[in-house]
Amino acid sequence: MLRYFRQILSRTKWFATTFAAGLLLCSAQSLAADASRGEALFKACSQCHEVGAQAKNKVGPHLDGVFGRKAGSIEGFKYSSAMKRAGDGGLVWSVDAIDAYIHKPRTFIKGNRMSYRGMEDDQDRADLVAWLEQISLTKPSANANVPSTNAVVGFATAVLEIEGDPDYGAYLSGECVTCHQITGKADGIPSIVGLPRDYFVRSLFEYKTNIRQNEVMKTRVINLADEEIAALAAYFSSLTPQ
Ligand code: HEC
Ligand code: HEC
Repeated sequence: MLRYFRQILSRTKWFATTFAAGLLLCSAQSLAADASRGEALFKACSQCHEVGAQAKNKVGPHLDGVFGRKAGSIEGFKYSSAMKRAGDGGLVWSVDAIDAYIHKPRTFIKGNRMSYRGMEDDQDRADLVAWLEQISLTKPSANANVPSTNAVVGFATAVLEIEGDPDYGAYLSGECVTCHQITGKADGIPSIVGLPRDYFVRSLFEYKTNIRQNEVMKTRVINLADEEIAALAAYFSSLTPQ
């Protein structure tokens, strides 16, 4: 019906000109995104993807904390080798990358196995990705002091700028060494003694934001403040394995 209407209209010169002007206007505004439309648009994805604090993998990997995440990098999810290769080749999910991927999933990464045919409309994609960016780091209220719009990389960078107090870290470490051996021995539980500060900080944020899924660690880190993470990182990185 609508198509028929357009066909008739498109025969008139008036329509052709107005339409062209409209297109120009649209592209000139470069699609101001309206995140409030995103939740409804996500219905196209939600049969396969979850997002938000408790998000789990379904048919597709969970999308919590996806911005700044290397493609194909959630431990325990079975990606196609095409997706893993894309990540190893340097693909990190950004607004633009996700936009391009969901526009044409098949051609953006040849051989990946997301069976979604693509979202044609530029405005729809912009709105969806804007919403995803807001929602993808939603935390439980206990953690509400952490700004919800930044990616893990942003959090980690901010914490790395705090000069952690190793003495405070030693004090806090009592909670950790019941599992992680202070000698640096690993028997099932990884050693965290002597880990580089940046790796240490980033891994804690990966538990906070669901990129790493270990429940034990997630409950340990969820209430740690930035200063505490910085202090723990300063302390553990200063130790040497015995
Ligand atoms: C029919 C199921 C399905 C639908 C619908 C779907 N996806 Fe996916 N998605 C997948 C699968 C499966 C993968 C993993 C692909 C691979 O390993 O090659 C994936 C991967 C992704 C990734 C990469 C994640 C990572 O960890 O590297 C993003 C981002 C993504 N999808 C976003 C979306 C968005 C946004 C939508 C909705 C517009 C959507 N997907 C719709 C199944 C789906
Ligand atoms: C109840 C046991 C337990 C406690 C307590 C615990 N952890 Fe862990 N931690 C684990 C386990 C198990 C893993 C591995 C999880 C995984 O596979 O992701 C881990 C992983 C880690 C890692 C990632 C190591 C790596 O090689 O990537 C860091 C860093 C870490 N813990 C720091 C801490 C800190 C800091 C504390 C104290 C605030 C702490 N943990 C308390 C069990 C514990």
